[in-house]
Amino acid sequence: MPTKSKKRKGSAPLAAIVLAAGKGTRMKTRRAKVLHRVCGRPMVYFPVKRALEAGADPVVVVVGHQADEVEAELRAALPDAPLRFARQERQLGTAHAVLAAKGCLRGHTGPVMILSGDTPLLTTHTLASVVDARTSPQSLAFATMDLENPEGYGRVVHAPGKGPALIVEEKDATPEERQIREVNAGLYVADSGFLWSTLARVDAKNAQREFYLTDLVALAADGPGAVAVRVSPVEAQGVNDQEDLSLAVRAMTRRIAASLMESGVTLEDPERFDADEGVVVGPDTIIEPCVRLRGATRIGSGCVIGQGAILSDTTVGDGVEILPYCHFDRARIGDRCRVGPFSRLRPEASLAEEVHVGNFVELKKTSMGKRSKAGHLTYLGDATVGADVNVGCGTITCNYDGERKHPTVIGDGVFVGSDSILVAPISIGKGAYVAAGSTLTESVPAGALALGRSRQVNKAGWARKRASSKISGKGH
Ligand code: UD1
Ligand code: CA
Repeated sequence: MPTKSKKRKGSAPLAAIVLAAGKGTRMKTRRAKVLHRVCGRPMVYFPVKRALEAGADPVVVVVGHQADEVEAELRAALPDAPLRFARQERQLGTAHAVLAAKGCLRGHTGPVMILSGDTPLLTTHTLASVVDARTSPQSLAFATMDLENPEGYGRVVHAPGKGPALIVEEKDATPEERQIREVNAGLYVADSGFLWSTLARVDAKNAQREFYLTDLVALAADGPGAVAVRVSPVEAQGVNDQEDLSLAVRAMTRRIAASLMESGVTLEDPERFDADEGVVVGPDTIIEPCVRLRGATRIGSGCVIGQGAILSDTTVGDGVEILPYCHFDRARIGDRCRVGPFSRLRPEASLAEEVHVGNFVELKKTSMGKRSKAGHLTYLGDATVGADVNVGCGTITCNYDGERKHPTVIGDGVFVGSDSILVAPISIGKGAYVAAGSTLTESVPAGALALGRSRQVNKAGWARKRASSKISGKGH
């Protein structure tokens, strides 16, 4: 999990460049690759966040494809971060992309870390290890990894007895070079003086006619020196296609699951658990399989989250029991509530302590006071429900007249009989009773009994009369 931002005392300040201008053709989507979601965040958020945590200031993001969206998403997710955005109008290669960031780093003289927007799994620790690996302030350090299947990656060629000599891209590699399993992970730390003077010398004389950032390695090996730092392939795998994306999402989810378990949360099956980056769960909470926690969801301690629940941007107190298959979106649930199975809490549903909401109950923009209950088959919208209220099975607030929404207010201690229709705007005074099957269009005073239904008529002997009329052929 993320570590705290690291102040690099005594050493030259670090800046970072994150490359995120490409389209990501191999994804086969309209959406730019770096905007695809990993645990609730656009993929590019992670390298940017990790660079910030490693102490980089500023972090320059090179944008091009869907530039406005990439910039807007990052600014929204990291509002106070020292971010700068550089445009690369045409994507002529990774070296060309880094050069696009030069203007944003005028005046910066220390080391520059370069990351790809498509490697979301790198940790702050790994970034720091590459920063620290440089043998002199002028030398270049870059991350490599050993892959069973190195296909698609740049191969790292070593000079016998010396360090790395060059990186050769797959399309330019000889059959022998393609056998090399040590590949370029796409993470570099370079001195800014070396970087800008060297990039000016990179050309596009290669199979793809692109300006390759990887050419830096050969130029550093001939000059100030290059160091290859082996990092974990689990962290450094890039996302290039949909399968890679699914693997990155799983790996990130596992990491979130591990950190939750570390903090005392029981996950009955971490492989069947999904959580967005940033969700909070208290200790002694048990999470059953197939639960999905999204956005800014926060769950207290000592809760049980039943199988199949999907919670988005929802706050859950302590000791709450959520029975299986609930769907909550922007809801608040107080301590010791019991909700579900099959309950739906929509935005601004708010439950005080010890509330019970049962199966097939939907709440929208509705608050329920302490110990109130809505056990079965109910819709409450735009309603304010007091404490100790019993909302009977099948109750419906008619909050919408086709044009506007209207409020329903139900006082403390009210008993609403089953199958009641409450036509809003309406209020039911404290301690009142609503008879089962009522349709109420007028407010009810405190303590009253409201009967909103026609009186029952029993016709004695009717069934026998009907039967005899059938036999004689009369009537129907
Ligand atoms: C690159 C490396 C390769 C390495 C791999 C690691 C080069 C030439 N190759 O290949 O050695 O093994 O990463 O993951 O650098 N981008 C831009 N502008 C451009 C081109 C790319 O911003 O003009 C961005 C992309 O949006 C992406 C990142 O740079 O986020 C990497 O580009 P990509 O095309 O995925 O490079 P690879 O082919 O994976
Ligand atoms: Ca890539």
